[in-house]
Amino acid sequence: MIIVTGATGRLGRQIVGKLLESVPAETIGVSVREPGKAAAFAGRGVRVRAGDFTEPSTLDHAFEGADQVLLISAAIRGPRAAEASRAAVDAAVRAGASRVLYTSHQAASPDSLFDPGRQHAAIEKHLAEQNVAYTALRHGFYTSTFEHYVPAALRSGEFRLPADGPVSWTAHADLVEADVAALTKPGLFDGVSPPLTAPGLLDFADVASILSELTGRTITRVVVDDEEWKATVIAQGMPDAAAEFTLGMFRAARAGQFAVTHPALEDLLGRPATSARAVLEEILPGG
Ligand SMILES: NC(=O)c1ccc[n+]([C@@H]2O[C@H](COP(=O)([O-])OP(=O)(O)OC[C@H]3O[C@@H](n4cnc5c(N)ncnc54)[C@H](OP(=O)(O)O)[C@@H]3O)[C@@H](O)[C@H]2O)c1
Repeated sequence: MIIVTGATGRLGRQIVGKLLESVPAETIGVSVREPGKAAAFAGRGVRVRAGDFTEPSTLDHAFEGADQVLLISAAIRGPRAAEASRAAVDAAVRAGASRVLYTSHQAASPDSLFDPGRQHAAIEKHLAEQNVAYTALRHGFYTSTFEHYVPAALRSGEFRLPADGPVSWTAHADLVEADVAALTKPGLFDGVSPPLTAPGLLDFADVASILSELTGRTITRVVVDDEEWKATVIAQGMPDAAAEFTLGMFRAARAGQFAVTHPALEDLLGRPATSARAVLEEILPGG
């Protein structure tokens, strides 16, 4: 049985939907925090069980009978993220899975300036220490991240953000295909995968240009000092920890830590990766 966690999240829901196109529903199980939210999958014959990475005992039931487990990194920030994912890896091994897959990040490194990069590196190390086949899927930075910034840019005509750098923004839809391929082709991306990224590198100045073209309005990129940006977003209600987390993304980007591309994703897709422009079009009102 293939177990997929996080199947009520954006990535997991699409992965299970795509997986259902290639393997029988009764060979798929999902581990989710709220089974009611996965009722549509249950209706299609998928086994739905409750599992929470922060309550590892729940995972024993959720992962029962697993041959492969795809661990979608839980939406948890800070040191608790690695602790939770480590518990999920241990539960997958305990369940007897012959292969554990994990959604990592293109910038996974103990030296990452972006906290998730360090957390993912810790999990990759933990996976390598288990006596089981594993695949760490090094996802590109999700293009959907623009959803956090586009609405304000449309209101003000400006991307007022800290200094950044080039990033190989990569679409969920493309990564869903890669993850499903990894699950259905044992041995694909054995160990740590190559960076699964789109080929282009864009910074926020490039994104401002694309958005200007798409909207017919001038969207300007304005670089704001880190501390000034932090004070502004905190005054707008962002918690200090969230502001620091986000600043880490800008610090890593301007240090070139996300300027990583690799042909593996397009080779696997057999088509060009989804462009950042296409994702921006979808993000725009009416898109
Ligand atoms: N590569 C990148 O650029 C990038 C960017 C952002 C995030 N990420 C990572 O990629 C993951 C998947 O992305 P996404 O777009 O699908 O995010 P998403 O829609 O926010 O989904 C996150 C998933 O994490 C689950 N989750 C949260 N806490 C959990 C816990 N304690 N135990 C088990 N599951 C838990 C959520 O469950 P519920 O449905 O019950 O809430 C949800 O299914 C994220 O969780 C994050 O770790 C990567």
